[in-house]
Amino acid sequence: KKRIVSGIQPTGSVHLGNYLGAIKNWIPLQDVYETLFFIVDLHAITLPYDAQELSKATRTTAAIYLACGVDVSKASVFVQSHVRAHVELMWLLSSATPIGWLNRMIQFKEKSRKMGDENVGVALLTYPVLMASDILLYQSDLVPVGEDQKQHLELTRELAGRLNFLYGGRKWKKMGGRGGAIFKVPEPLIPPSGARVMSLSDGLSKMSKSAPSDQSRINLLDPKDVVANKIKRCKTDSYPGMEFDNPDRPECNNLLTIYQLVSGKTKEEVSQECQDMNWGTFKTLLADSIIDHLHPIQVRYEEIMYDSAYLDRILVEGATKATNIADATLNNVYQAMGFLKR
Ligand code: TYM
Repeated sequence: KKRIVSGIQPTGSVHLGNYLGAIKNWIPLQDVYETLFFIVDLHAITLPYDAQELSKATRTTAAIYLACGVDVSKASVFVQSHVRAHVELMWLLSSATPIGWLNRMIQFKEKSRKMGDENVGVALLTYPVLMASDILLYQSDLVPVGEDQKQHLELTRELAGRLNFLYGGRKWKKMGGRGGAIFKVPEPLIPPSGARVMSLSDGLSKMSKSAPSDQSRINLLDPKDVVANKIKRCKTDSYPGMEFDNPDRPECNNLLTIYQLVSGKTKEEVSQECQDMNWGTFKTLLADSIIDHLHPIQVRYEEIMYDSAYLDRILVEGATKATNIADATLNNVYQAMGFLKR
């Protein structure tokens, strides 16, 4: 069976972008592939964070996975920091990662520009190496993510290739390894729509957890009236009717796409249905559709959070399964890189 991994940072609250770009697409994959979904708490400390909140956010993010339909009878769900191999492999990978590759990462450039060198932790620079470790440890075939992770996936692929070249192949065989590659080179799996959900206050910037205004995003746990209010107040334009793909109407395209995905209709159906609507009519339709889609998720979330022993047990089981796979890869890498066997 091909293997799939993906994860979300436990920072702020999970929003519609995370859901439509990632989690929602994980669900059908569970039936076809071996799947591992983690909560990347070690990534969450790469920007200033609140230590009192981290463990709480880690549990709520895990509960959201389950509420959205991640099924632990099929998938392994675990916390990144519970599997020590992630950090260990990262160190090994970092020895072969050129600083230039990391300096070129768009997310690093954007975030560090805002903060200045004296305030940016080294971990923000090496963040993509940890992400590569998350993926390569499990010999993953596919990584379902939103568009913004594409560059990190590209780096992961290059690192896998570099390590395979430096330490795999014939050289490793001579040292007693099985020969061939140390790492599988993974592919990103980016959805045709929903890969880049935009902010409600600006159709040209991405919906994000870190945007200062909560009005700019719909959180999965937002109550009904909050969702209705955010949609009522979101940015519009003054064109007549509703249409996809008009570059002058990014807000319109974004909201239609959200409607398409939460209603489960096709793009053509949505086009037809909404082309003659005015903003007021469309916004009501959209808000109702989001509320209906989120309702069962929110109900399940409450149930899961109510039974904290259940959630803890799942995370222990998930970490145990993941550790088995991860340790096998890690041991191979140590051996291939020439370390003394313990
Ligand atoms: P994070 O926590 O920023 O986002 C989690 C997932 O949500 C997607 N996403 C979006 N998709 C569509 N529209 C948006 N506005 C939007 N915002 C976020 C992201 O693409 C991602 O799929 N580095 C990763 C976490 C990570 C990871 C991994 C992912 C760490 N290790 C290994 C996959 C495999 C991150 O910060 O995602």
